[in-house]
Amino acid sequence: MDRRSAIKTAASLFGLPLSAASIATSTLPAADLLKRDPEAYWKRIREEQFLLPGWRCFMNNGSLGIAPKPVVAAVTNHIERSAALTHYPELQDEEYSRWGYETLDKYRTELGAFLGCKKDELALMHNATEAMSTIAAGLDLKSGDEVLITDQEHPSGRGGWFLRAARHGVTVREVKIEQPPKNEDQMVETMISAIGPRTKVMSFSGILTTTGLIMPVKRICAAARAKGVITVIDGAHMHGQIPVNMNDLGCDFMAGSPHKWMFAPAGCGLLYVREEMLDRLWPTVATDFFVRGGADLKAAKYMMMGTNNRSIFIGMMAGLAFLKEVGPENIYFRIHHLSKEVYKQSAKRQSLQLLSAADDGMYGSLVTFQMQPEHFQRFSTLCTKKKIWIVKAPRQRVATHIHTRPQDVQLYFESLDEAAKG
Ligand SMILES: Cc1ncc(COP(=O)(O)O)c(C=O)c1O
Repeated sequence: MDRRSAIKTAASLFGLPLSAASIATSTLPAADLLKRDPEAYWKRIREEQFLLPGWRCFMNNGSLGIAPKPVVAAVTNHIERSAALTHYPELQDEEYSRWGYETLDKYRTELGAFLGCKKDELALMHNATEAMSTIAAGLDLKSGDEVLITDQEHPSGRGGWFLRAARHGVTVREVKIEQPPKNEDQMVETMISAIGPRTKVMSFSGILTTTGLIMPVKRICAAARAKGVITVIDGAHMHGQIPVNMNDLGCDFMAGSPHKWMFAPAGCGLLYVREEMLDRLWPTVATDFFVRGGADLKAAKYMMMGTNNRSIFIGMMAGLAFLKEVGPENIYFRIHHLSKEVYKQSAKRQSLQLLSAADDGMYGSLVTFQMQPEHFQRFSTLCTKKKIWIVKAPRQRVATHIHTRPQDVQLYFESLDEAAKG
């Protein structure tokens, strides 16, 4: 009997739905392999834990991450279970494929413990865009109040503020960030010296989408708070790429996209609201809780948004379990190690203008450079031919995650060289 038929038989014997059963998940390689032979360990992780085929070279985890097999299995399994309702009533809370009227305390407690906040400070969202817009829409700001952002914000991190400008006369001012900056002190000085008499909010990315630069969030937030300025962090690239403890960072609000670096399926987002700020952020979507008065809901009030797909969030929790099992420290070390190689390879090539800082403490797993537009045209064609998945622009943001293989980095740079030769 071949493997597929064996799976089919097992599925029918145990009454399992077929598709979930056919995503065969396997246990992780033994931890001592990581110590003895790290390359062999990570090779097995890529081959056994991800659905990515061997021929795919994936270098754009920055736009959207890849869900590993246990996450895909958890999502499909839940979709099937919730269509069958076979586990009613013992799993009644989880069985129904819905959220949007529930507080999902179990998920928020576990996520909060990992990300450094209380469950009551955390709301589940669909992406960072939604979280950033919820923050921008929900603060009491009036005409003439100023919001400081950087000139490197993602459209999703600045859109909500420009909407407030159009609607309520709020002023949005952009602070220029050097590319690459000299050091952390320069970044703190640039941001804090920009605060003016009308500045009410400072909103910036913890890791810049344009260059992968890690901003000194903790120092900037402390200095801003001392001046009475509210801090909003677009953390889309932070959670899972670098260690994050939201309480310790000291920001007032933070948005997250666990579908980038935390192995969650697409459509998972986070909104962090520091406890003391819960009364200062109005929800944007409201259900009956608002009519009845829902102060006890704390951050869950931002989640009362009507019927949602719970399967995706069950997948997010499976992604967190996977991350914890592989080990966050092992992951950060590995993905940064690969990223340093990307930096080294980029620095060797004179035709590339590096935008990432030389100090590797200032980037996590995103290295960015500008290439010549005519080289890019050829590079893009070559990538299609060689099945290399890239950001489709001459400003290349190269992302490494645990499914990235050293041979992927090598293939990427060999292709760059081929494109540069003409
Ligand atoms: C800094 C930053 N903020 C926000 C977003 C938007 O994220 P999402 O699509 O999850 O809303 C991105 C996406 O790349 C980003 O890089």
